[in-house]
Amino acid sequence: MTKAKIIGLGSYFPKKVLTNKDLEKMVDTTDEWIVTRTGINERRIADENEFTSDMAYEASKNALEDAKIKAEDIDLILVATLTPDYIFPSTACLVQNKLQANNAAAIDIQAACSGYVYALSFAKSLVEQKVYKNVLIVASEKLSSITDYQDRSTCILFGDAASACVVSLNGKGLEIESVYLGADGKMSDLLILPAGGCKKPATLDTVKNKEHFLKMDGKEVYKHAVRRMGEATKKCLEMANLHESDISWLVPHQANERIIDAIAKRFTHLPKEKVYKEVVYKFGNTSASSVGIALDLLKKGNKLKKDEYILLSVFGAGFTFGGCILKNLG
Ligand code: UT7
Repeated sequence: MTKAKIIGLGSYFPKKVLTNKDLEKMVDTTDEWIVTRTGINERRIADENEFTSDMAYEASKNALEDAKIKAEDIDLILVATLTPDYIFPSTACLVQNKLQANNAAAIDIQAACSGYVYALSFAKSLVEQKVYKNVLIVASEKLSSITDYQDRSTCILFGDAASACVVSLNGKGLEIESVYLGADGKMSDLLILPAGGCKKPATLDTVKNKEHFLKMDGKEVYKHAVRRMGEATKKCLEMANLHESDISWLVPHQANERIIDAIAKRFTHLPKEKVYKEVVYKFGNTSASSVGIALDLLKKGNKLKKDEYILLSVFGAGFTFGGCILKNLG
């Protein structure tokens, strides 16, 4: 069977840079602590009037241009985000309108930081079963809108950005070899936006108690992230009938350099520069957008050689996790 491919990639970063030095003036932290514990140097913050759908639109335009197809050729838009413009309508519908992708169905996927890989799984199946021809995946996050800039344990981590790709049967690009998805709902309390849903609609109390900001038990999340991303890499290697030593590039979710290093331990043959970390250094944790940005920068940096395998591995709130193996067709 012909396999689905990523035929175009794009990303978008807001202009405003928030450095560790800036954060030193906002909370009780230091550049040294942030760099040592996370690897993050700076992150981007969207403008007051710039929203998830706007960043998604910009990243989508870049991906469509890269794929050399028009918006009207897209027949499905999947938007992965945990910071939608609204609870409803979906951000995917807003993006469909901005792009004038009038032939496309549109739906949001909520799998937190794993959203891009979840979307790749759905796009692969739908394209290979010939239900849709060209699927646009967009991951976009305005995490600054749910971050408490008085909470030093979270505000140093997150940034705003978007990434996008076009998945199709035709054309060249990155062939999708295997995708593994997993979830563990027992752990949903460890990383959560407590209020704003139907269980706790906005009230004066929820605002006073800062329940519209994300809450995370960092230490616990860290342990599960390492374990689950490790499992996911193993599962998608098995699904593709490949071995660790076949992988040329490891692209884990860009949340924390130490988590990336822990995942990389299994890949003893890989030199340091083939374990991708540029995104966590420069943009912090951009949730669903993270691996898509890494893939875009990696491809556009002309570092990928023909027939190389790239392994993506992700983890996020829910918990959700997953892995994906891509082959560069050149
Ligand atoms: O994308 C979804 C998945 N999310 C993640 O993967 C995030 C997973 N978690 C992490 O990356 C790490 O747990 C953090 C970076 C959030 C925290 O690193 P840690 O090494 O687990 O630190 P910790 O929470 O154990 O805190 C160590 C100390 C504490 O002080 P005491 O109790 O030892 O006195 C914290 O209060 O560091 C303190 N601390 C800080 N100090 C300076 C916490 N945040 C900061 C800070 N600056 N920003």
